[in-house]
Amino acid sequence: MKGVILAGGSGTRLHPLTRITNKHLLPIYDRPMISYAIEALVLAGISEMMLVTGGTHAGEFLRLLGNGEEYGIDRLLYAYQERPGGIAEALGLAERFVGDDPVLVMLADNIVERSFRPTVEAFADQGKGARILLTEEDDPVHLRHLGVPEFDQQGHITAIHEKPESPPSSYAVTGIYCYDPQVFEVIGHLEPSGRGELEITDVNNWYVTQGTMAYDVLQGFWGDAGESMEAYYAVNDFVRANGVNKP
Ligand code: TTP
Repeated sequence: MKGVILAGGSGTRLHPLTRITNKHLLPIYDRPMISYAIEALVLAGISEMMLVTGGTHAGEFLRLLGNGEEYGIDRLLYAYQERPGGIAEALGLAERFVGDDPVLVMLADNIVERSFRPTVEAFADQGKGARILLTEEDDPVHLRHLGVPEFDQQGHITAIHEKPESPPSSYAVTGIYCYDPQVFEVIGHLEPSGRGELEITDVNNWYVTQGTMAYDVLQGFWGDAGESMEAYYAVNDFVRANGVNKP
């Protein structure tokens, strides 16, 4: 399984910090944010990965990560997203790197307490389709800012609603997704959303309509450090107090 880490975007919710650097270079406790995603993929057993970034600080990732050997990576490639055209567009840049393999995609501002290795292994058995990680979230106010799955009575996802006014469940879609290589064909057919981006939720809903979307519920803490200044500090506090990326 190949890995793709997405570290482009504009990071406007962390302005003015992200006016002068890339969000994923900001510190989380004692390390740049990007290190945690790299570590999470390595811990999940992924040793070949591509980092997609953009904007004005792409060179700093090379300075920090080099060829990835220090992090236990066999092969680390880089891609540059010319403009923040959306998560699905950023993933599209990894098409030739991924080739005919399955791929695990992680948003570089996501921080997880526990390894998602079981999901990677389950997806290897699943063989085709997609598999996403959900997190339990009881706060309806928070859910209204996230992607929220709706389930049928058998517990299958029937739709994912982006920032729903009335959340249909108390789960949120995290930024960790597994796809078969068909994902690139799906991305190729996407239309930009109202905000001019290729949306990963449209990709996920395509797999839902095909009946090939599976999911796991992440155990332990999950944080999106780019969601707000409050969230950024909450993630920092959690990492400092408890540590993350535990097996
Ligand atoms: P978002 O947090 O949705 O977008 P953003 O990083 O541009 O931030 P903001 O909404 O505050 O302006 O993106 C989630 C992750 O996806 C982010 O960590 C980086 C990645 N991403 C890309 O790689 N390319 C993109 O074009 C976008 C929009 C996001």
